[in-house]
Amino acid sequence: MKHLPHLIDANRHWAASMTDRDPDFFKRLADQQKPQYLWIGCSDSRVPANEIVGLLPGEIFVHRNVGNVVVHSDLNCLSVIQFAVEILGVRDIIVCGHYRCGGVMASLSGARHGLVDNWLGHVRDVAERHEPSLQDIADPDAKADRLCELNVIEQVANVCRVTSVGDRWAAGGQLTIHGWIYDIRDGLLRDLGFCVDGSETFQAEYARVIKSRH
Ligand code: CO
Repeated sequence: MKHLPHLIDANRHWAASMTDRDPDFFKRLADQQKPQYLWIGCSDSRVPANEIVGLLPGEIFVHRNVGNVVVHSDLNCLSVIQFAVEILGVRDIIVCGHYRCGGVMASLSGARHGLVDNWLGHVRDVAERHEPSLQDIADPDAKADRLCELNVIEQVANVCRVTSVGDRWAAGGQLTIHGWIYDIRDGLLRDLGFCVDGSETFQAEYARVIKSRH
């Protein structure tokens, strides 16, 4: 039986270096977490939430799945959002997609990958909804990039429709949903300009951001 000793060793070094820099670091975190942000991103190993925004443990609450999809009936994602908004009191939810997303590309190509194809049906729904504008893009890479962006926009819209988000807004609470995309080719994040901070502005912002490109 193998126990992955290199990972356990790496952890020992990491924990020691954290404690060297800040002796109370883990003691403080053990008492409570108070992250300011919720990150909803892709499971892709190249898009680690904390690292790419330079945040430490305790600073960002994270949910990841294949294709950074927010589904109205997914109790996992809905529970993360509810806990983040109502219990942790986060004020910013970031939906972050990424270019060259395998899930998005698979949903465009129609290639079969097994069970995951059912999950990726949610991304295919996005592609179908935006088929006319996607059809105008001849270059396959550019088309995939655009679907990655549209998928973020649609998932931001889905977050806006989650009950705990609507309840926070109805109660006058401050909560902003952001749509970002990460480029694994240069390590840079880009804000897609879809930023919603209330149910009144949601539909107008959605229409504006969809029209703003292509
Ligand atoms: Co991905």
